[in-house]
This record gives sequence, structure tokens and C-alpha cells, in this order.
Amino acid sequence: MHHFEYRGDVLYCEDVAIPDLAETYGTPLYVYSTATLKRHYRVLSEAFETQSCLIAYSVKANSNLAVLATLASMGAGADVVSGGELYRALKAGIPAEKIVFSGVGKSVSELNAALDAGIHQFNVESIPELHRLSRLAEARGVKAPIALRVNPHVAAGGHANISTGAAEHKFGIAWHEAKDIYKEAMDMPGIQVAGVDVHIGSQITDIAPMRTAFEKVVGLVRELRDMNIPIERIDLGGGLGIPYRDGDVPASPSDYAAMVRDVLGDLDVQVILEPGRMIAGNAGIFISRVEYIKERDGRRFAILDAGMNDLMRPALYQAVHEMKPVVKSASDWTQTYDLVGPICESTDRFAKDYETTELHEGDLVAFMSAGAYGAVMSNQYNTRPICAEVLVDGEQHDLVRRAPTFEEIVSSEQIPKWITS
Ligand code: LLP
Repeated sequence: MHHFEYRGDVLYCEDVAIPDLAETYGTPLYVYSTATLKRHYRVLSEAFETQSCLIAYSVKANSNLAVLATLASMGAGADVVSGGELYRALKAGIPAEKIVFSGVGKSVSELNAALDAGIHQFNVESIPELHRLSRLAEARGVKAPIALRVNPHVAAGGHANISTGAAEHKFGIAWHEAKDIYKEAMDMPGIQVAGVDVHIGSQITDIAPMRTAFEKVVGLVRELRDMNIPIERIDLGGGLGIPYRDGDVPASPSDYAAMVRDVLGDLDVQVILEPGRMIAGNAGIFISRVEYIKERDGRRFAILDAGMNDLMRPALYQAVHEMKPVVKSASDWTQTYDLVGPICESTDRFAKDYETTELHEGDLVAFMSAGAYGAVMSNQYNTRPICAEVLVDGEQHDLVRRAPTFEEIVSSEQIPKWITS
């Protein structure tokens, strides 16, 4: 469910007409809906309300401070994967005791920052990382609460590039070594063993592989407890996949919660969830304007003012984001277009052979489900400024990130003296 709907022929975000936003802020433009963000958070937290549960929103999905502050106001925690994300989460008002830190490559300075903040949990992904963390915590006279991310050898995920739970992937510690590594961790002076962590992939719309992985993890928790290793938390990783097209029906938060309850049985643990896409994905759309319609060799290209630098998912994962005209055309006459951007790469294409009502130069189009892994993955390739982001709440709207000027883009670069002298 989201709050991007037509009123008459015009697409709205909550009570604001999209053409008005395009007029005010320009295009390309990301538009986020507060009501949708809050609704997604609320539905998930209600589904888990009978369970001790921390919802640690996965900041990587959409890390805009206004999005984080909105979720912080709902009580959300955060799953961060870098010093930068930790900085953002704290700055947006997410308390350190609700923050978990994931990722395979945490640097010394990142670990120190998280230790100084006093975060809830480090999701440790290797033995060398355990040693490094123990050393740094000991030097501070503290014990770092950890979960080991285990790799359950269950492959799942919307696309091969976003699947993480198989043996070939870099993530987590080997399943067969887990118990030995936990025993080792128990003896480390700077480590407090607190939990087990698992994450098998993203955009998983079927809960069966999740169940398989969680059942394995629950079995491991019971074995660890039998070894007197005090596991009090299970981190189940990222959330469910989302519908990207009308008609897609992924598992619901209540199906997911029921499955988790069933798998946990009588196991008394705090559940940690790290949902990103299911919170932010359908809470954002991406607006672009048609620059040209070009017909060549029997193909019809709609050349947009947005490129793969603004929304990378189609180029990177062959993802198709449903495109809707911002103002519905008066006629039902449809045409087939390749929806492309201005960048000098053939992968700069949002969709091939996309059937839609007739498009004209100057028309606004909306790519749906762009709130997660959209703006965060944008870049300035072709020196195209990272585009602006707007947050809507009812009738209110405000810029939550403005596009940099060309001067700002080059301001951190310098020409060495030997070139100019
Ligand atoms: N926790 C961990 C350890 C993760 O690696 C991820 C996502 C999440 C949580 C959040 O997963 P979610 O709830 O959003 O499914 N750029 C790709 C997605 C990469 C996901 C990376 N990890 C895309 O655009 O589809």
C-alpha cells in the first residue's frame, strides 16, 4: 500500500500534485511519502508486537536524514554498514542502543566510532574482525556485544547480484565452523557474545527460503545454549521483497511474522529485523521529464532527463520499475517505447519495448517503487548533479536534499600546481 494515486488524471503524492512538485523543484526528482513510510513501519511493528523485537531499519536502502528522522519518530532503530551511515543514524536521532552494525569490511575507525557511540550490536562476519573488535573494545575497557553472521548456505533473492546466503558469497562465517568460533569468541576479553545473525538476500518475495534459513539458525541457537553460550538475540537480516508491478503479490508482513513465530516456537530471544526495501521502496517515486521522442530504425525512444546515474537498478540488475504518466493522456492509444536516459552508455535504459499511452516532449513520467536503492545509489557520472529529493506529508512538502551546483561538484577537486605552473 502506498500514497501515490491519481486524482482525476493527475498523479498525487498524498495531497500534493506531482506536476506542482516538478514545477517547484525541477526534474529529475525523488519524491517520498511520509504516510507510506510510517504505514510500512507500523504494519511491520504491529505484526511483531507479541515478540520482543527491534526493527533496525536498513539505512542503506534510503539514508536521507529526513527519512531516518521520520522513522526515528516511530521508534525505529537502524542497521548501518559504514561509519557514514552510523553518523547519519545518530544525527537523525536514532539512539545508539537501537543500532546494529553489519558488513564484512568494518575499518578500525568505524569500529571505534561504533564502540564510542555504544551501539546495540556488532554483526561480525569473520574471525579477524572478531579479534580486531576485541582488541579495540578491550583498549576502551568495554565488551562489544556481538552476533556472528552465519552463512546458512541457502540461496535466495530477487537477482543473483543481491543473493548473499550461498557458500560462494563473501558474507558471514562458515556454517560448519560456527560453534568453534562462538567458543573462541567467549574467551576474547573485549567480546560479549549476544546473538546469531543471518541475512540471505534481498527482494525475496517467497518466505520458504527464509524459513529454511531461520530453522537452521534456531537449531544452532539451541545447540549454542546447550554449550552454555548465552545467545539472547536472533538477527534475521533484511526484510521482505516488495511489489514492483501491479499484480505482484509478495508475502505479507503478517505471513512473515507468523512464520517467524512458528520457527521460534518457545525460544525466548529478542528478534532483530533489518528491513530496508519493505519500508522505503514503495514510499518513493522518481520523476523525470521527456526531453525528446526519437524514432529510428523502427524503434521509438523516449529520451528522458534522468539517467542510470540517478536510478541505477535497471542498468545494474535489469530491474523494471513500473512507469506511469504523471498526467494521464486523454486517449487510450498506446505505443511502445524504449525509455532511455541521456548518458553515453547503452545500459542507460529504464525499460525496453515498454508499452504506455503516447508520450510527448515535455511530459512528466513517474517510475514507481523507487524509494529504496534509488537516490542512495545515484552518482554524478557524466557530471550530472545528484538529483534533488522531496518529502511530502499531507499537503506539506519540502526539499530534503537539493542538487549540487556544478561549482559544488568540482569544489573538492584540485589541479596540482605542476600542471598550471
Ligand atoms: N541487512 C543486510 C545485512 C543487508 O545486506 C541488506 C541488504 C539488508 C539488511 C536490507 O535488505 P532489504 O530489507 O532492503 O531487502 N541494491 C540492491 C539491493 C542490495 C541489498 C543489499 N543488502 C537493489 O537495488 O535491489
